[in-house]
Amino acid sequence: MKKITKAVFPVAGMGSRFLPATKASPKEMMPIVDKPLIQYAVEEAVAAGITDMVFITGRNKRAIEDHFDKAYELEAELAMRGKEELLRVVREVIPAHINCIYIRQTEALGLGHAVLRAQPVVQDEPFAVILADDLIDGDTPIVSQMVDVFRQHQCSILGVQDVPREQTRSYGIVGATPLGSDIEAVNSIVEKPKPEDAPSTLAVVGRYILTPRIFHHLEKVQAGAGGEIQLTDGIAALMREEKMLAYRFKGTRYDCGSKLGYLQATVALGLKHPEVRGEFAAYLDSLK
Ligand code: G1P
Repeated sequence: MKKITKAVFPVAGMGSRFLPATKASPKEMMPIVDKPLIQYAVEEAVAAGITDMVFITGRNKRAIEDHFDKAYELEAELAMRGKEELLRVVREVIPAHINCIYIRQTEALGLGHAVLRAQPVVQDEPFAVILADDLIDGDTPIVSQMVDVFRQHQCSILGVQDVPREQTRSYGIVGATPLGSDIEAVNSIVEKPKPEDAPSTLAVVGRYILTPRIFHHLEKVQAGAGGEIQLTDGIAALMREEKMLAYRFKGTRYDCGSKLGYLQATVALGLKHPEVRGEFAAYLDSLK
């Protein structure tokens, strides 16, 4: 029985949809209320029992490494001022038993190319891929749900949800046969198809569990949709060889790669945040 201990976070993207905010700082460091997007993603992995966080970074991404590093000066300053609660918050950004590993993707050639960079660390274990842009809020964290499915089926699993047909162009779309209420067997997958060409409206949204055989396929994948080396094309090749499942996760997904999704996440999580929810809800009511 294989265990998932590693998660790969591709964070080398330019974040062009959020310029100028992302001119000098990574899009993954944009906060939703008071935590950067990447921290939500890492917390999801930690909750699922994952211990090794593999970040595929690029230029201008130093802030991510600093965020998950110890901040000596800040901690000393907070301790000196007796700010115990803030000190706890800063220290809890990354639990002591977690390893952070950084791999530089020198050229941004696509998501498949980014994931392949993780091979020297992941080697021959199944692993998770988490796209921090897709913030998913669920009672049970989504990666934990997927690790449970993996425990039962021991195969690759794609986190999916239905999207309006006119949006298929933004996603990897799967063709699948239902096996139960939330699990389907994947028979095809296409990156960003036109609505009329999409095999269904079931979209992959930023959560994957993949077997290490994916690396073999990613090495061979040629530039596909958008001229990029697509993870979806590697997955399509893997699917022809191994069992692969699509899992309809339980939770609400916010596309924080888009301005609207980012604002929706801010409102939803602001309304849940213990410090501000009351006043924030009253403020939103006052706008009606
Ligand atoms: C990537 C993947 C796509 C997936 C999407 C989920 O696309 O290539 O298959 O559906 O993430 O957010 P991107 O959003 O990076 O263009």
